[in-house]
Amino acid sequence: MSMEEAETQTVRCGLPAFGGLDGLDEPGLRLGEDDLAWWRDAKFGLFIHWGVYSGIGRGEWAYHNDKYAEEDYRNIAENFSPSRNAEAIVSGWLDAAQAAGMKYAVMVARHHDGFALWDSSASYKNFTSAKLGPRMDYVAAFTRACHERNVYAGLYYSPMDWRFPGYFDPQGKPESALLMKQQAYGQIEELCTNYGKIDILWYDGGWLAHKGRDADAAWLWEPLKLNKLARCYQPKMLINPRSGFKGDFQCDEGGHEVIGGIVPFAWEKNMSLSAAWAYRPEDTFLSSSQVIRMLVNVIIRGGNLLLNIGPDGEGHIPSAAAAVLRETGEWLGENGEAVYGTRAGIYEPVDGIYGSTCKGSTVYVHILDRGAFANLILPPTEKRILAARTLNGEGVAFTQDKNGVRLELPPEPGDKKQVVTVVHLITEG
Ligand code: GLC
Repeated sequence: MSMEEAETQTVRCGLPAFGGLDGLDEPGLRLGEDDLAWWRDAKFGLFIHWGVYSGIGRGEWAYHNDKYAEEDYRNIAENFSPSRNAEAIVSGWLDAAQAAGMKYAVMVARHHDGFALWDSSASYKNFTSAKLGPRMDYVAAFTRACHERNVYAGLYYSPMDWRFPGYFDPQGKPESALLMKQQAYGQIEELCTNYGKIDILWYDGGWLAHKGRDADAAWLWEPLKLNKLARCYQPKMLINPRSGFKGDFQCDEGGHEVIGGIVPFAWEKNMSLSAAWAYRPEDTFLSSSQVIRMLVNVIIRGGNLLLNIGPDGEGHIPSAAAAVLRETGEWLGENGEAVYGTRAGIYEPVDGIYGSTCKGSTVYVHILDRGAFANLILPPTEKRILAARTLNGEGVAFTQDKNGVRLELPPEPGDKKQVVTVVHLITEG
Protein backbone atom coordinates (compact mmCIF):
# COMPACT_ATOMS: atom_id res chain seq x y z
CA MET A 1 0.00 0.00 0.00
CA SER A 2 1.40 3.45 -0.90
CA MET A 3 1.62 6.22 1.71
CA GLU A 4 -1.28 7.96 0.03
CA GLU A 5 -3.49 4.87 0.05
CA ALA A 6 -2.69 4.28 3.70
CA GLU A 7 -3.65 7.87 4.45
CA THR A 8 -6.98 7.67 2.61
CA GLN A 9 -7.76 4.45 4.35
CA THR A 10 -7.09 6.00 7.76
CA VAL A 11 -9.33 8.92 6.92
CA ARG A 12 -12.12 6.70 5.62
CA CYS A 13 -12.23 4.47 8.65
CA GLY A 14 -11.75 7.41 10.98
CA LEU A 15 -8.66 6.49 12.98
CA PRO A 16 -7.27 9.81 14.12
CA ALA A 17 -4.37 10.85 11.87
CA PHE A 18 -1.55 12.64 13.67
CA GLY A 19 0.71 14.31 11.13
CA GLY A 20 2.72 16.13 13.79
CA LEU A 21 4.27 13.12 15.48
CA ASP A 22 7.38 13.36 13.34
CA GLY A 23 7.99 16.97 14.34
CA LEU A 24 11.31 18.10 15.82
CA ASP A 25 11.69 17.75 19.55
CA GLU A 26 14.13 18.67 22.25
CA PRO A 27 14.24 17.64 25.90
CA GLY A 28 12.54 20.21 28.10
CA LEU A 29 10.75 22.07 25.32
CA ARG A 30 7.51 20.16 25.64
CA LEU A 31 5.36 20.70 28.72
CA GLY A 32 4.94 18.01 31.34
CA GLU A 33 1.67 16.17 31.97
CA ASP A 34 0.88 18.43 34.99
CA ASP A 35 0.89 21.50 32.78
CA LEU A 36 -1.61 19.87 30.42
CA ALA A 37 -4.10 19.03 33.17
CA TRP A 38 -6.26 22.18 32.78
CA TRP A 39 -6.53 21.56 29.05
CA ARG A 40 -7.39 17.88 29.45
CA ASP A 41 -10.03 18.92 31.99
CA ALA A 42 -11.47 21.59 29.68
CA LYS A 43 -12.30 19.21 26.80
CA PHE A 44 -14.12 21.61 24.51
CA GLY A 45 -13.01 24.82 22.79
CA LEU A 46 -14.15 27.28 20.13
CA PHE A 47 -12.02 27.89 17.04
CA ILE A 48 -12.72 31.17 15.24
CA HIS A 49 -11.73 31.90 11.64
CA TRP A 50 -12.44 35.54 10.97
CA GLY A 51 -10.64 38.18 8.93
CA VAL A 52 -10.71 40.15 5.67
CA TYR A 53 -11.72 36.93 3.88
CA SER A 54 -14.95 36.77 5.94
CA GLY A 55 -16.15 39.87 4.13
CA ILE A 56 -15.39 38.22 0.78
CA GLY A 57 -17.38 35.14 1.81
CA ARG A 58 -15.47 32.49 -0.13
CA GLY A 59 -13.47 30.90 2.67
CA GLU A 60 -10.09 31.80 4.22
CA TRP A 61 -8.16 30.71 1.12
CA ALA A 62 -9.86 33.35 -1.09
CA TYR A 63 -6.68 35.42 -1.60
CA HIS A 64 -4.79 32.46 -3.00
CA ASN A 65 -7.59 30.53 -4.69
CA ASP A 66 -9.07 33.54 -6.46
CA LYS A 67 -5.59 34.85 -7.35
CA TYR A 68 -5.99 38.37 -6.02
CA ALA A 69 -3.24 40.84 -6.80
CA GLU A 70 -1.61 42.01 -3.57
CA GLU A 71 -2.83 45.61 -4.06
CA ASP A 72 -6.40 44.50 -4.73
CA TYR A 73 -6.51 42.43 -1.57
CA ARG A 74 -5.01 45.34 0.34
CA ASN A 75 -7.84 47.52 -0.96
CA ILE A 76 -10.36 45.00 0.26
CA ALA A 77 -8.63 45.08 3.65
CA GLU A 78 -8.82 48.87 3.68
CA ASN A 79 -12.56 48.62 3.01
CA PHE A 80 -13.08 45.92 5.60
CA SER A 81 -14.97 47.85 8.25
CA PRO A 82 -17.30 45.95 10.54
CA SER A 83 -19.79 48.35 12.08
CA ARG A 84 -19.32 47.22 15.69
CA ASN A 85 -16.19 47.76 17.74
CA ALA A 86 -13.76 44.96 18.59
CA GLU A 87 -15.14 44.46 22.12
CA ALA A 88 -18.68 43.89 20.85
CA ILE A 89 -17.51 41.44 18.21
CA VAL A 90 -15.37 39.28 20.47
CA SER A 91 -17.94 39.30 23.21
CA GLY A 92 -20.43 37.78 20.74
CA TRP A 93 -17.93 34.97 20.07
CA LEU A 94 -17.27 34.31 23.73
CA ASP A 95 -20.96 34.41 24.61
CA ALA A 96 -21.47 31.68 22.02
CA ALA A 97 -18.51 29.68 23.34
CA GLN A 98 -19.74 29.86 26.90
CA ALA A 99 -23.31 29.01 25.91
CA ALA A 100 -21.87 25.89 24.24
CA GLY A 101 -20.06 24.87 27.41
CA MET A 102 -16.65 25.56 25.92
CA LYS A 103 -13.78 26.38 28.25
CA TYR A 104 -11.24 27.74 25.80
CA ALA A 105 -11.20 29.66 22.55
CA VAL A 106 -8.62 29.88 19.79
CA MET A 107 -8.85 32.94 17.58
CA VAL A 108 -7.13 33.17 14.20
CA ALA A 109 -4.76 36.08 14.81
CA ARG A 110 -3.30 35.88 11.34
CA HIS A 111 -4.06 33.47 8.52
CA HIS A 112 -2.07 32.72 5.36
CA ASP A 113 -3.27 35.98 3.73
CA GLY A 114 -0.92 37.86 6.06
CA PHE A 115 -3.52 40.20 7.56
CA ALA A 116 -2.73 40.58 11.26
CA LEU A 117 -5.71 41.21 13.54
CA TRP A 118 -3.61 43.18 15.99
CA ASP A 119 -1.36 46.21 16.10
CA SER A 120 1.69 44.45 14.74
CA SER A 121 4.83 46.47 14.13
CA ALA A 122 6.50 43.34 12.76
CA SER A 123 3.90 43.08 9.99
CA TYR A 124 5.37 43.32 6.50
CA LYS A 125 3.96 46.51 4.91
CA ASN A 126 1.80 47.27 7.97
CA PHE A 127 -0.85 44.82 6.88
CA THR A 128 -2.89 44.93 10.09
CA SER A 129 -6.38 45.66 11.37
CA ALA A 130 -4.88 48.46 13.45
CA LYS A 131 -3.40 50.35 10.49
CA LEU A 132 -5.98 49.50 7.79
CA GLY A 133 -9.74 49.06 7.56
CA PRO A 134 -11.32 48.85 11.00
CA ARG A 135 -8.30 50.28 12.85
CA MET A 136 -8.82 48.01 15.80
CA ASP A 137 -6.77 45.50 17.74
CA TYR A 138 -8.92 42.37 17.84
CA VAL A 139 -6.31 40.25 19.60
CA ALA A 140 -6.24 42.80 22.42
CA ALA A 141 -10.03 42.73 22.75
CA PHE A 142 -10.15 38.95 22.53
CA THR A 143 -7.45 38.21 25.08
CA ARG A 144 -8.82 40.82 27.48
CA ALA A 145 -12.32 39.35 27.25
CA CYS A 146 -10.98 35.80 27.74
CA HIS A 147 -9.09 36.88 30.84
CA GLU A 148 -12.15 38.64 32.26
CA ARG A 149 -14.38 35.63 31.68
CA ASN A 150 -11.89 32.93 32.69
CA VAL A 151 -11.98 31.41 29.25
CA TYR A 152 -8.54 30.05 28.35
CA ALA A 153 -7.09 32.15 25.53
CA GLY A 154 -5.59 30.58 22.42
CA LEU A 155 -4.14 32.24 19.33
CA TYR A 156 -3.82 30.66 15.90
CA TYR A 157 -0.87 31.88 13.88
CA SER A 158 0.30 30.96 10.39
CA PRO A 159 4.06 31.53 9.93
CA MET A 160 3.67 31.35 6.15
CA ASP A 161 2.25 34.29 4.25
CA TRP A 162 1.15 34.20 0.60
CA ARG A 163 2.38 37.73 0.00
CA PHE A 164 5.99 36.53 -0.10
CA PRO A 165 7.25 35.03 -3.36
CA GLY A 166 9.84 33.33 -1.16
CA TYR A 167 7.10 31.17 0.34
CA PHE A 168 6.50 29.57 -3.05
CA ASP A 169 10.17 29.36 -3.98
CA PRO A 170 12.27 29.57 -0.82
CA GLN A 171 15.46 28.37 -2.51
CA GLY A 172 15.12 30.56 -5.56
CA LYS A 173 14.05 33.65 -3.59
CA PRO A 174 15.86 33.28 -0.28
CA GLU A 175 15.71 36.98 0.62
CA SER A 176 11.96 37.02 0.44
CA ALA A 177 11.74 33.76 2.42
CA LEU A 178 13.96 35.24 5.12
CA LEU A 179 11.84 38.37 5.30
CA MET A 180 8.78 36.16 5.83
CA LYS A 181 10.62 34.25 8.55
CA GLN A 182 11.64 37.50 10.22
CA GLN A 183 7.99 38.59 10.25
CA ALA A 184 6.97 35.30 11.90
CA TYR A 185 9.58 35.62 14.67
CA GLY A 186 8.62 39.24 15.28
CA GLN A 187 4.91 38.52 15.34
CA ILE A 188 5.21 35.50 17.64
CA GLU A 189 7.21 37.68 20.00
CA GLU A 190 4.48 40.35 19.92
CA LEU A 191 1.68 37.87 20.52
CA CYS A 192 3.58 36.34 23.42
CA THR A 193 4.51 39.61 25.09
CA ASN A 194 1.78 42.20 24.49
CA TYR A 195 -1.40 40.46 25.59
CA GLY A 196 -0.87 38.95 29.04
CA LYS A 197 -1.18 35.23 29.55
CA ILE A 198 -1.70 33.18 26.40
CA ASP A 199 -2.75 29.61 27.11
CA ILE A 200 -2.45 28.03 23.68
CA LEU A 201 -0.34 28.84 20.64
CA TRP A 202 -1.95 27.14 17.67
CA TYR A 203 0.21 27.12 14.56
CA ASP A 204 -0.86 26.21 11.08
CA GLY A 205 0.97 26.48 7.79
CA GLY A 206 4.50 25.68 8.93
CA TRP A 207 5.15 24.16 5.55
CA LEU A 208 6.54 25.71 2.35
CA ALA A 209 5.09 26.10 -1.16
CA HIS A 210 2.08 24.04 -0.04
CA LYS A 211 4.24 20.92 -0.22
CA GLY A 212 5.44 18.23 2.13
CA ARG A 213 4.97 18.12 5.86
CA ASP A 214 5.59 20.84 8.42
CA ALA A 215 8.75 19.06 9.54
CA ASP A 216 10.15 19.22 5.98
CA ALA A 217 10.20 23.01 6.18
CA ALA A 218 12.08 23.10 9.48
CA TRP A 219 15.32 24.05 7.68
CA LEU A 220 13.79 27.48 7.06
CA TRP A 221 11.60 28.07 10.09
CA GLU A 222 13.84 26.51 12.76
CA PRO A 223 10.80 25.66 14.86
CA LEU A 224 12.79 24.73 17.97
CA LYS A 225 14.35 28.19 18.03
CA LEU A 226 10.98 29.84 17.34
CA ASN A 227 9.23 27.94 20.11
CA LYS A 228 12.04 28.50 22.60
CA LEU A 229 11.44 32.18 22.02
CA ALA A 230 7.71 31.69 22.61
CA ARG A 231 8.33 29.60 25.76
CA CYS A 232 10.66 32.20 27.11
CA TYR A 233 7.72 34.62 27.40
CA GLN A 234 4.93 32.10 28.02
CA PRO A 235 6.51 29.17 29.84
CA LYS A 236 3.27 27.24 30.40
CA MET A 237 1.57 27.88 27.08
CA LEU A 238 0.48 24.76 25.19
CA ILE A 239 1.89 24.63 21.67
CA ASN A 240 0.33 22.57 18.89
CA PRO A 241 2.48 20.56 16.46
CA ARG A 242 1.97 22.53 13.26
CA SER A 243 5.16 24.58 13.28
CA GLY A 244 7.38 21.57 12.69
CA PHE A 245 7.97 21.19 16.46
CA LYS A 246 6.29 18.09 17.89
CA GLY A 247 4.33 20.23 20.33
CA ASP A 248 2.43 19.48 23.52
CA PHE A 249 -0.52 17.75 21.92
CA GLN A 250 -1.30 16.23 18.53
CA CYS A 251 -3.98 17.36 16.08
CA ASP A 252 -6.47 15.32 14.09
CA GLU A 253 -8.05 17.66 11.58
CA GLY A 254 -11.40 17.32 9.85
CA GLY A 255 -14.93 16.17 10.45
CA HIS A 256 -14.48 12.43 9.85
CA GLU A 257 -15.79 10.29 12.66
CA VAL A 258 -13.24 8.94 15.10
CA ILE A 259 -12.92 5.28 15.91
CA GLY A 260 -10.29 3.10 17.55
CA GLY A 261 -8.83 2.82 21.03
CA ILE A 262 -7.87 5.36 23.67
CA VAL A 263 -5.01 7.44 22.25
CA PRO A 264 -1.95 7.24 24.53
CA PHE A 265 -0.97 10.92 24.22
CA ALA A 266 -2.71 14.29 24.43
CA TRP A 267 -4.64 15.08 21.25
CA GLU A 268 -7.25 17.40 19.87
CA LYS A 269 -9.71 17.03 17.06
CA ASN A 270 -10.18 20.28 15.18
CA MET A 271 -13.07 20.54 12.79
CA SER A 272 -15.58 23.03 11.53
CA LEU A 273 -19.29 23.25 12.15
CA SER A 274 -19.69 23.86 8.41
CA ALA A 275 -17.88 22.62 5.31
CA ALA A 276 -15.44 25.58 5.30
CA TRP A 277 -13.40 27.16 8.10
CA ALA A 278 -14.27 30.76 7.28
CA TYR A 279 -17.62 32.28 6.38
CA ARG A 280 -19.42 31.39 3.18
CA PRO A 281 -23.04 32.54 3.02
CA GLU A 282 -24.28 29.29 1.49
CA ASP A 283 -22.87 27.01 4.20
CA THR A 284 -25.05 24.84 6.42
CA PHE A 285 -24.10 23.39 9.80
CA LEU A 286 -23.83 20.09 11.58
CA SER A 287 -26.64 19.39 14.02
CA SER A 288 -26.12 19.50 17.79
CA SER A 289 -26.60 15.70 17.91
CA GLN A 290 -23.69 15.31 15.50
CA VAL A 291 -21.55 17.65 17.58
CA ILE A 292 -22.42 15.91 20.84
CA ARG A 293 -21.68 12.47 19.43
CA MET A 294 -18.38 13.73 18.04
CA LEU A 295 -17.47 15.26 21.40
CA VAL A 296 -18.25 11.98 23.15
CA ASN A 297 -16.33 9.94 20.57
CA VAL A 298 -13.34 12.19 21.14
CA ILE A 299 -13.33 12.30 24.95
CA ILE A 300 -13.77 8.54 25.37
CA ARG A 301 -10.52 8.29 23.38
CA GLY A 302 -8.70 10.82 25.53
CA GLY A 303 -9.00 13.84 23.25
CA ASN A 304 -10.34 17.40 23.20
CA LEU A 305 -12.63 18.92 20.59
CA LEU A 306 -11.85 22.30 19.04
CA LEU A 307 -14.95 23.22 17.07
CA ASN A 308 -14.71 25.99 14.51
CA ILE A 309 -17.16 28.67 13.47
CA GLY A 310 -16.75 31.30 10.75
CA PRO A 311 -18.42 34.60 11.70
CA ASP A 312 -19.58 36.77 8.78
CA GLY A 313 -17.85 39.97 7.67
CA GLU A 314 -19.56 41.88 10.47
CA GLY A 315 -18.23 39.38 13.00
CA HIS A 316 -21.65 37.82 13.67
CA ILE A 317 -21.93 34.09 14.15
CA PRO A 318 -24.69 32.89 11.78
CA SER A 319 -27.80 32.34 13.89
CA ALA A 320 -28.20 28.69 12.83
CA ALA A 321 -24.66 28.00 14.03
CA ALA A 322 -25.28 29.82 17.30
CA ALA A 323 -28.37 27.64 17.85
CA VAL A 324 -26.31 24.45 17.42
CA LEU A 325 -23.80 25.75 19.95
CA ARG A 326 -26.57 26.57 22.44
CA GLU A 327 -28.15 23.12 22.11
CA THR A 328 -24.76 21.49 22.63
CA GLY A 329 -24.38 23.61 25.75
CA GLU A 330 -27.75 22.43 27.02
CA TRP A 331 -26.61 18.83 26.74
CA LEU A 332 -23.38 19.69 28.53
CA GLY A 333 -25.35 21.54 31.19
CA GLU A 334 -26.95 18.22 32.04
CA ASN A 335 -24.06 15.87 31.31
CA GLY A 336 -21.02 18.00 32.09
CA GLU A 337 -20.08 15.89 35.10
CA ALA A 338 -19.29 13.02 32.71
CA VAL A 339 -17.16 15.29 30.50
CA TYR A 340 -15.19 18.03 32.28
CA GLY A 341 -12.30 17.00 34.47
CA THR A 342 -12.55 13.36 33.42
CA ARG A 343 -10.02 11.07 31.74
CA ALA A 344 -10.74 8.37 29.17
CA GLY A 345 -11.23 4.86 30.58
CA ILE A 346 -11.63 2.51 32.37
CA TYR A 347 -13.16 0.80 29.35
CA GLU A 348 -11.71 0.85 25.86
CA PRO A 349 -14.29 2.25 23.42
CA VAL A 350 -16.31 -0.08 21.23
CA ASP A 351 -16.79 1.83 17.94
CA GLY A 352 -20.25 3.27 17.53
CA ILE A 353 -21.61 1.62 20.68
CA TYR A 354 -20.00 2.95 23.86
CA GLY A 355 -16.92 4.17 25.65
CA SER A 356 -16.18 5.64 29.05
CA THR A 357 -14.63 8.44 31.02
CA CYS A 358 -13.77 8.42 34.70
CA LYS A 359 -13.15 10.74 37.62
CA GLY A 360 -12.28 9.61 41.15
CA SER A 361 -14.26 6.48 41.87
CA THR A 362 -16.97 7.18 39.26
CA VAL A 363 -16.95 5.69 35.78
CA TYR A 364 -19.20 7.33 33.20
CA VAL A 365 -20.34 4.95 30.49
CA HIS A 366 -21.30 6.93 27.37
CA ILE A 367 -23.73 4.84 25.34
CA LEU A 368 -24.04 5.82 21.68
CA ASP A 369 -26.23 2.93 20.56
CA ARG A 370 -28.60 1.58 23.21
CA GLY A 371 -29.88 -1.25 21.04
CA ALA A 372 -26.42 -2.68 20.36
CA PHE A 373 -25.32 -2.00 23.93
CA ALA A 374 -28.14 -4.16 25.33
CA ASN A 375 -26.41 -7.27 23.95
CA LEU A 376 -22.99 -6.44 25.41
CA ILE A 377 -21.18 -7.12 28.64
CA LEU A 378 -18.66 -4.58 29.89
CA PRO A 379 -15.27 -6.27 30.33
CA PRO A 380 -14.36 -7.52 33.81
CA THR A 381 -12.79 -5.02 36.19
CA GLU A 382 -11.11 -5.28 39.57
CA LYS A 383 -13.22 -2.37 40.78
CA ARG A 384 -16.34 -3.49 42.63
CA ILE A 385 -19.36 -1.56 41.43
CA LEU A 386 -21.53 -0.30 44.27
CA ALA A 387 -24.24 1.43 42.30
CA ALA A 388 -25.24 2.30 38.75
CA ARG A 389 -27.57 5.13 37.89
CA THR A 390 -28.61 7.40 35.08
CA LEU A 391 -28.00 11.09 35.07
CA ASN A 392 -31.25 11.93 36.86
CA GLY A 393 -30.42 9.49 39.65
CA GLU A 394 -32.60 6.64 38.41
CA GLY A 395 -31.12 3.27 39.45
CA VAL A 396 -29.86 0.97 36.71
CA ALA A 397 -29.96 -2.76 37.44
CA PHE A 398 -26.57 -4.44 37.01
CA THR A 399 -24.81 -7.71 37.61
CA GLN A 400 -21.07 -8.04 38.08
CA ASP A 401 -19.20 -11.32 37.97
CA LYS A 402 -15.95 -12.70 36.61
CA ASN A 403 -17.21 -12.34 33.03
CA GLY A 404 -17.84 -8.64 33.38
CA VAL A 405 -20.64 -6.22 34.08
CA ARG A 406 -24.08 -6.28 32.51
CA LEU A 407 -26.22 -3.15 32.72
CA GLU A 408 -29.94 -3.20 32.18
CA LEU A 409 -31.03 0.20 31.02
CA PRO A 410 -34.59 1.27 31.75
CA PRO A 411 -36.66 1.55 28.57
CA GLU A 412 -35.93 4.79 26.75
CA PRO A 413 -38.84 7.21 26.82
CA GLY A 414 -39.97 7.31 23.19
CA ASP A 415 -40.65 11.05 23.24
CA LYS A 416 -37.30 11.99 24.75
CA LYS A 417 -34.64 9.99 22.95
CA GLN A 418 -31.19 10.87 24.21
CA VAL A 419 -28.35 11.59 21.83
CA VAL A 420 -26.01 9.76 24.17
CA THR A 421 -27.09 7.97 27.34
CA VAL A 422 -24.66 8.34 30.21
CA VAL A 423 -24.66 5.79 33.05
CA HIS A 424 -22.70 6.58 36.22
CA LEU A 425 -21.01 3.60 37.85
CA ILE A 426 -20.01 4.26 41.44
CA THR A 427 -17.11 1.99 42.32
CA GLU A 428 -15.52 1.09 45.62
CA GLY A 429 -12.68 3.34 46.77
C1 GLC B 1 -6.17 23.76 7.15
C2 GLC B 1 -6.65 24.84 6.22
C3 GLC B 1 -6.59 26.18 6.89
C4 GLC B 1 -7.29 26.16 8.22
C5 GLC B 1 -6.75 25.04 9.07
C6 GLC B 1 -7.44 24.88 10.40
O1 GLC B 1 -4.79 23.84 7.35
O2 GLC B 1 -5.87 24.88 5.06
O3 GLC B 1 -7.12 27.15 6.09
O4 GLC B 1 -7.08 27.37 8.86
O5 GLC B 1 -6.83 23.83 8.39
O6 GLC B 1 -6.88 23.87 11.16
